[in-house]
Amino acid sequence: MSKNIKCLAIETSCDETSVAIVENGRNVLSNVISTQIDIHKKYGGVVPEIASRNHVENITYVVDEALEKANVELKDIDIIGCTYGPGLVGALLVGVSTAKAIAYALQKPLVGVHHIEGHIAANYITHPELTPPYLCLVVSGGHSHLVYVKDYTKFEILGKTRDDAVGEAFDKVSRTIGLGYPGGPIIDEKAKSGKPIYSLPRTFFENLDFSFSGIKTAVIQLMNKEPNISIPDLCASFEEAVTDMLVENVLKAVELVKTNKIAIAGGVSANSYLRERMKRIGAIHNLKVYYPEIVLCTDNAAMIGSAAYYNYQEGKVSSLNLNAVPNLKIGES
Ligand code: KG4
Ligand code: ZN
Repeated sequence: MSKNIKCLAIETSCDETSVAIVENGRNVLSNVISTQIDIHKKYGGVVPEIASRNHVENITYVVDEALEKANVELKDIDIIGCTYGPGLVGALLVGVSTAKAIAYALQKPLVGVHHIEGHIAANYITHPELTPPYLCLVVSGGHSHLVYVKDYTKFEILGKTRDDAVGEAFDKVSRTIGLGYPGGPIIDEKAKSGKPIYSLPRTFFENLDFSFSGIKTAVIQLMNKEPNISIPDLCASFEEAVTDMLVENVLKAVELVKTNKIAIAGGVSANSYLRERMKRIGAIHNLKVYYPEIVLCTDNAAMIGSAAYYNYQEGKVSSLNLNAVPNLKIGES
């Protein structure tokens, strides 16, 4: 039997300092997430400089805690994975530099991981039976992509947003209606006691692209027009409109690539209404629907450990010259 591969993985692309120990891409031994949300909340969003500084302060403690929780020592680690893009450059650099230092000290392979490929890989942890090919809807704070996952490290982009990402729309709408940051989980909660009674626009294109800036503007206009608007109903209406756009393109993509497996990934895949709708379309269209457990939807290092393992298996390792690439495109890694 081949040896078990233990990966120490680091994720610092935005406002989470996270380190995980993952065995063979699927078995999470520890996944420590130190979130800075409370620090950035008062600014209404992530302040890049503050994020970098906090990563610097936290990273060694988080590495130690991840090793301790997994009950392993550095000498037991076989590969080091880290997110090297896309994301905030200063934040990414903290994780990349730490990973390089550990890889150099241990003389073990370094594997740079694309953040979004990590989000997709979160599904391998939650669903041991999931194997490519399948379709993945990636919805996060920075990305809205429909990806055909041809193999563990082969991706084809079928559609993407032309303006705002879905999570960005959630965050901007939340700020506009005074609900705070991060908007996604707050809107999710408020919408549960609301009804989708307000009419909001849906944008569709001939191809599989998305657009979410129109709906954001429509919400702002509606707020100005109706001072006594019901916030739960507005949240439910917003979620329904956004989900209609996502689901429509997912179904078109299913036809295009002829698959019966769909996964969702990224922070917005934690959204309870989106999860419920995906489940419903799965039942109607006879599709198997996968989504990560909630803690693996938003940023975490376990997903990076999974993606790093599959890259390593394909011989895709990085040199110690690895640098942060803030606007790295998917499939370019
Ligand atoms: O994947 P992620 O942690 O970071 C990026 O890679 O961007 O995603 C963060 C985004 C934020 O915009 C946040 O508001 C959104 O995911 N989000 C949600 C929920 N939880 C987080 N959006 C909708 N419903 C949620 N429950
Ligand atoms: Zn993310």
